[in-house]
Amino acid sequence: MSFNPLKEKGVSLSKQLRSWHDIAHRKFNKYGVDCYTRTRQILMNGIEVEAWNFKHHFARTTDDDETKEFLAMAKRIEDMQQTTVNWLTPSDQSVLETTLGYEQVAVDLTAWLAQNEPDAYVRETFDFGLLEDFDHLYRYSQWAYMEHGVDPDDILQNQTDVMLSRPTQNHHNDNVLRLRKHYDKATASPQTKVNILTLVSGEQQTHNYYAEHGMEYGNECLRETYAEIKDVEEEHVTMYESLIDPTESLYEKLLIHEFTEVCTYYNCMEDEVDDILKPIWEEFLDYELAHLAVAAELFKKHENRDPEEVIGSEIIYPCHFESQKEYVSNILENEIDKRLGVKKDYSKIENLPEEWSSYKVQEKVSSDGAPTEMTIHLISKQKDRDLLITSDKLAKAAPKLLEKGLEPKAQAPDTFTPEEYKKAALQKFEM
Ligand SMILES: [Fe+2]
Ligand SMILES: [Fe+2]
Ligand SMILES: [Fe+2]
Ligand SMILES: [Fe+2]
Repeated sequence: MSFNPLKEKGVSLSKQLRSWHDIAHRKFNKYGVDCYTRTRQILMNGIEVEAWNFKHHFARTTDDDETKEFLAMAKRIEDMQQTTVNWLTPSDQSVLETTLGYEQVAVDLTAWLAQNEPDAYVRETFDFGLLEDFDHLYRYSQWAYMEHGVDPDDILQNQTDVMLSRPTQNHHNDNVLRLRKHYDKATASPQTKVNILTLVSGEQQTHNYYAEHGMEYGNECLRETYAEIKDVEEEHVTMYESLIDPTESLYEKLLIHEFTEVCTYYNCMEDEVDDILKPIWEEFLDYELAHLAVAAELFKKHENRDPEEVIGSEIIYPCHFESQKEYVSNILENEIDKRLGVKKDYSKIENLPEEWSSYKVQEKVSSDGAPTEMTIHLISKQKDRDLLITSDKLAKAAPKLLEKGLEPKAQAPDTFTPEEYKKAALQKFEM
């Protein structure tokens, strides 16, 4: 049975206002909730933040009364949806625990999108970013243990590995190199458009979360770790958003935004196992169907085109969460030494030009040391090794992978070397 969102009406915009109690009273139990319910909640918060932000941007650039009135009503609804979704977070979930959730989203969502992406170049870009968020998860896991005594698996529930990847100090690029080739709006599939916007929304919110919360820890090295990884998320937003065709009109973008909200809520509703969250996804899907209907009418009126040309006639599944350990370990083993090429392509470390422009950036930002390297020094001093949660096979391969994935040039002065890592890897971590 196929579901064509453009044929649905949803709940009319005038019925989407809710009471403060309804908006803000629900929350989950941080250890009782399914980890993929938490990842859906984190992602949908990002989707709503983007929906709200985009409408403000649109409102500041249009003088069409009908459009402005729709945006004025709808952005307030998006904002109320954002509150409901984000405030499901219980007050006792620490910033670092939430952070593990954010990176679990990044890893398992990107892996899902890559496997369902029809455009090979976009897929390669997803795989590239995937390995970086996978390394963030590893660095933050050390901190969750050191700062709060938390076993990362209390949050990750054994669905996502904790394992070193392309080292974070090597994620700092010349932001111009992050710019990718964009898809062609006339030929790209709706799946590609929705996949990219879903990921951009998630990455942007990850950046914003670190920007707003990294300073809540007094530990200097942890604070700097947040600053360092936050900056990589900025690079990720730059990279993924550059895949989008910038010549889409604002009406076309509005259509894609509402369609992405419909698809993500639909996907969440179908997958949800939690009794508190499932009715929220159902209700908000109905809201988004109404937003989409208005966006489609505005698009027809202002562009004189059929919305189906842009978004097709079928629902898309852009955010199914399931364990992606096998997929991720395969990319890790094969692509840890991949880097951004100079022609919007990719390159192995050994083939980078002498004057690769990211070296200069890395030398500057890591000149006083890389906090994400210091993180591994700290835990290995305390515990004789770092904290890995992965198969024995991958844990054994870790020192070799580090050797392969670390650039020999422009290393931070406090780099945890592959030699040191070999020694650390002999010990077993005890919680
Ligand atoms: Fe929304
Ligand atoms: Fe990340
Ligand atoms: Fe990221
Ligand atoms: Fe919406």
